[in-house]
Amino acid sequence: MKDLFDRYDFHGHRLANRIVMAPMTRSRAADDGTPRPMMVEYYAQRSEAGLIVSEGTNISAQAQGFLYTPGIFTEAHIEAWRRVTAAVHAQGSTFFLQLWHVGRIGHPDNMEAGLHPVAPSALAHPRTIVTRSGPQPTVVPRAMNLDEVKQAIAQYATAARNAIRAGCDGVEIHAANGYLPSQFLHSSSNLRADRYGGGIADRIRFLVEVAQACAAAIGAHRVGVRITPFSAFNGATSPDDEAGLYDQLLAALEDLELGYLHAVTAEVSGNVTLAEAERQKVADVLGFVRPRWRRTLIAAGNFDLERARATIRDGRADLVAFGRDFISNPDLVIRLRHGYPLARRDPAEWYGAGAEGYTDYPRWGVTPSAGAAAQLESAE
Ligand SMILES: Cc1cc2nc3c(=O)[nH]c(=O)nc-3n(C[C@H](O)[C@H](O)[C@H](O)COP(=O)(O)O)c2cc1C
Repeated sequence: MKDLFDRYDFHGHRLANRIVMAPMTRSRAADDGTPRPMMVEYYAQRSEAGLIVSEGTNISAQAQGFLYTPGIFTEAHIEAWRRVTAAVHAQGSTFFLQLWHVGRIGHPDNMEAGLHPVAPSALAHPRTIVTRSGPQPTVVPRAMNLDEVKQAIAQYATAARNAIRAGCDGVEIHAANGYLPSQFLHSSSNLRADRYGGGIADRIRFLVEVAQACAAAIGAHRVGVRITPFSAFNGATSPDDEAGLYDQLLAALEDLELGYLHAVTAEVSGNVTLAEAERQKVADVLGFVRPRWRRTLIAAGNFDLERARATIRDGRADLVAFGRDFISNPDLVIRLRHGYPLARRDPAEWYGAGAEGYTDYPRWGVTPSAGAAAQLESAE
């Protein structure tokens, strides 16, 4: 019988277990997007995971929406990521870099001077973004012209090449959570009249071409795609036919023979688990995706040990990703394996600051140093 702690091999990637560290923005890069040395320690501490997917990493200056998020488009970025991948590989884990373009979910104050957020269409999604002068409402993005669409696709491919130069085992295209590829997918954010908008076949074209370009650049088996079907986070909705959209998307992506698909359950909206009553009503994402995706499938979204094991055993996914629990439990794999209690989640530490709440969570059985952020508790 298949188990969470079994080895898993796919396309030459040899994972020590079926546990994935989910991509998580922690906003600890330098101002210019260069990963700081503490990021080396952070990822190395968590490298008992069979596979680590990095935090969202900007493919270009135009792609950036949030402060202190890392990039993969300068030589300094590549050099710094190389230290991360070397440390993770030394611990025996596999590392995919998540490629991120926020599209309209950004703010000019968080971008290089003169840049303005771009998107498929000039439609804002109302929310606030933290800037150096505090939270500010999003702005109306500028609609990308055809040249800019082509350029963005090419930038994904360059970023994928850069990731491989930095020692990554592959890249994950962030097509989840309402960022740029998702903005192209959905009818509520894409009103284009050219070949990248309109019917489903046209709205999926951007993501399919991005995946093709990355596959051509580094090999299809090194490319994964992350999606959040049936989640309205960041305004990612297709009220006309969301099932039809993902049906056609998965068929098109399957043809590309990619490394994996990473699907997030609809129990989670961004980084928040829905309330119990809401969770009862959401679509069964894995039930939808699995019959349409026979290749490697990663499931994420509100998993605990029991559900993760059942998911693997029943073949509803091949790998299970854990997000929030990996923040406060660097040794999550050991704790799950031995049934040790998990450390408390502390959302106040999630984004942007120093090493506190980042690299100072103790391993099981190690006495927390003075001022350490995590208090061991019996399970939440
Ligand atoms: C602090 C934080 C940052 C996140 N950043 C990203 C990100 O950069 N890219 C992404 O695809 N998902 C991101 N997510 C979502 C997680 O990958 C994951 O899907 C979500 O936390 C649900 O999994 P969990 O219930 O195991 O935490 C983030 C979540 C958290 C808590």
